[in-house]
Amino acid sequence: MTLSKHERYELALHFAKRITEYRLAKDLFTRGKSIILSPEAQVMKRFTQHGETTVFEHCVAVAKYSLLIAYSLEKLFRIEIDKDSLVRGALLHDYFLYDWHEKGQGRRFHGFTHPGVALKNADRDFDLNEIEKDIIVKHMFPLTPFLPSHRESFIVSLADKWCALAETFKIDVSSYIIYRVNFSIALTNGDYSIDYGETVAES
Ligand SMILES: [Fe+2]
Ligand SMILES: [Fe+2]
Repeated sequence: MTLSKHERYELALHFAKRITEYRLAKDLFTRGKSIILSPEAQVMKRFTQHGETTVFEHCVAVAKYSLLIAYSLEKLFRIEIDKDSLVRGALLHDYFLYDWHEKGQGRRFHGFTHPGVALKNADRDFDLNEIEKDIIVKHMFPLTPFLPSHRESFIVSLADKWCALAETFKIDVSSYIIYRVNFSIALTNGDYSIDYGETVAES
């Protein structure tokens, strides 16, 4: 079978994207694995965020785009980013642990209050540094009027808005990295019947 020039280009682009995503997933998992592998973080799979995306999937997607922005800033402007804190903060930025779609639970102001709830929960369940706390509590800027104190918080806030938009309009920008992260969890645990949320294969 002979491929046309256009087909060869499409194929090369496809593999380039896959390699980039594979490296991103590896980096993301390495930096965030103490959170990703914790039973506490897995609870986020029970709650829906935007559209059909779970909170866990949303947080993985936000960590991915935060890392992508960080790589770009480092490469183009030589701006140093604390990528460990960036990933950990992104993974926990929506750790509010309730279904915000359910009415009558005092969640009417979810958009304004959930960063504080997420920080309280995350501070209880994980050992956080100042950057990670800042990322979580200020990720809704400018909806909440608290200016991020660290560049990592600005990055996560930006990535969060992009992912929310993509998820709401069902644009697939993160299914591969979510698959890779879940695969890494299964490999690490040696448990292939792990709960993948809605995308799981039956064991
Ligand atoms: Fe949020
Ligand atoms: Fe978010």
